[in-house]
Amino acid sequence: MSNASTTSKKVRVAIIGAGAVSDYHHVPAIRLDPRAELVAVCDADPNLLERRKGDWGITKVTTDPVALCADPEIDAVIIATPNFTHSPIALAAAAGKKHMMCEKPLGLNAGEVREMYLAARDAGVVHMTAFTYRFAPSMKYLRHLLKSGALGTPRHFRSQRFLDWPETSWGWRQYQDKAGAGDLYDMTIHRIDFALDLMGPLTQVCGAVARFAPRTTTPDGKSCPPSNVDDWSSLIGEFASGATGVWEGTTLAKGYGRDGFGHEWAEVNGSEGSAVYRLHEPNTILLGKTGEDLAPVPVPAEFLKPSGSPRDPAQGKPATVFRYDLVWEFISAIVEQRSAVPSYLDGLNAQIVADAVLESYQQRRWIDTVLADE
Ligand SMILES: NC(=O)c1ccc[n+]([C@@H]2O[C@H](COP(=O)([O-])OP(=O)(O)OC[C@H]3O[C@@H](n4cnc5c(N)ncnc54)[C@H](O)[C@@H]3O)[C@@H](O)[C@H]2O)c1
Repeated sequence: MSNASTTSKKVRVAIIGAGAVSDYHHVPAIRLDPRAELVAVCDADPNLLERRKGDWGITKVTTDPVALCADPEIDAVIIATPNFTHSPIALAAAAGKKHMMCEKPLGLNAGEVREMYLAARDAGVVHMTAFTYRFAPSMKYLRHLLKSGALGTPRHFRSQRFLDWPETSWGWRQYQDKAGAGDLYDMTIHRIDFALDLMGPLTQVCGAVARFAPRTTTPDGKSCPPSNVDDWSSLIGEFASGATGVWEGTTLAKGYGRDGFGHEWAEVNGSEGSAVYRLHEPNTILLGKTGEDLAPVPVPAEFLKPSGSPRDPAQGKPATVFRYDLVWEFISAIVEQRSAVPSYLDGLNAQIVADAVLESYQQRRWIDTVLADE
């Protein structure tokens, strides 16, 4: 472990990839955490770096992620670049002994992600996958109810993620060689991850994907090559426990804008009761049991933010602000010299399932999912 884990100095964090997710989630989260400081930023776009100097108040910038990962003045990196660049950057971070949180999907396929996981594990650094929705208060409370037995034996898991997005170009996200897959890797992979966390391992899946929008025009009206990734993804699955799972995601659900957050509904039906998480109202859970229809229940205060975090749950939009808790977990793991949750192992297992969805659809059959356990 690097110096930051063994002294009282602040954890010196660098951002690699200064785009949307860093601006919305990670930089505000670092600002909130008194144990961390943003010391450097890397991006392939020098013009954006110039802007970020002003936006984020930093002076140290570079276009070279490999050089940044070798910098002894940096303890930890947040990798928030397009999907195809995650693997080489993570391997450089492991070589430089940097703690790392990497955006999902960790890579373009499970083979690549396994290599990243092993490199990080063997380097002895903290590694974390940015699976945001595990941190929603209602998801944490749902997990608590499930694991404490309040819902009885879990029987069904169900997830819907419906977005109403424009049908213009998604940039790098719409090409298989840069993104790996579309809605499946961008959206459904989060829901695969929290299903594994709630329900335990999946043993078999049957999946399907589809593409409807050609996306040959950029938002500012220029022509571009058509998309070759899915904009709808789905799977059904069997968990080792015997429980069943059903997932559907789309970016083409007209009328599901919901202030930019879209529609998200995930639920578990147990032998004693049902519990529902919804992204647009993350501080409330729906609970129901036989004879009592689903009804809203406020999430208890202890689940509204991580223990010790200075974040005020009453501030900001609830569907935005829980995203800052990822960095809190990452820095906590570094300071407390423990593994982060979710780790790269979780990122690998979600990727194994997502890859099986594509394989299943190509071969039109169920696929066994052999998950990794160390
Ligand atoms: N966890 C979540 O909820 C969530 C939300 C949004 C995005 N993401 C993930 O975050 C990642 C980034 O997404 P985004 O929306 O911020 O994309 P973006 O396109 O807005 O930003 C990516 C940035 O990376 C830079 N970049 C490209 N190649 C680079 C390289 N080799 N080295 C350094 N910088 C490089 C680009 O110039 C760009 O500024 C993706 O993996 C995406 O799936 C996760």
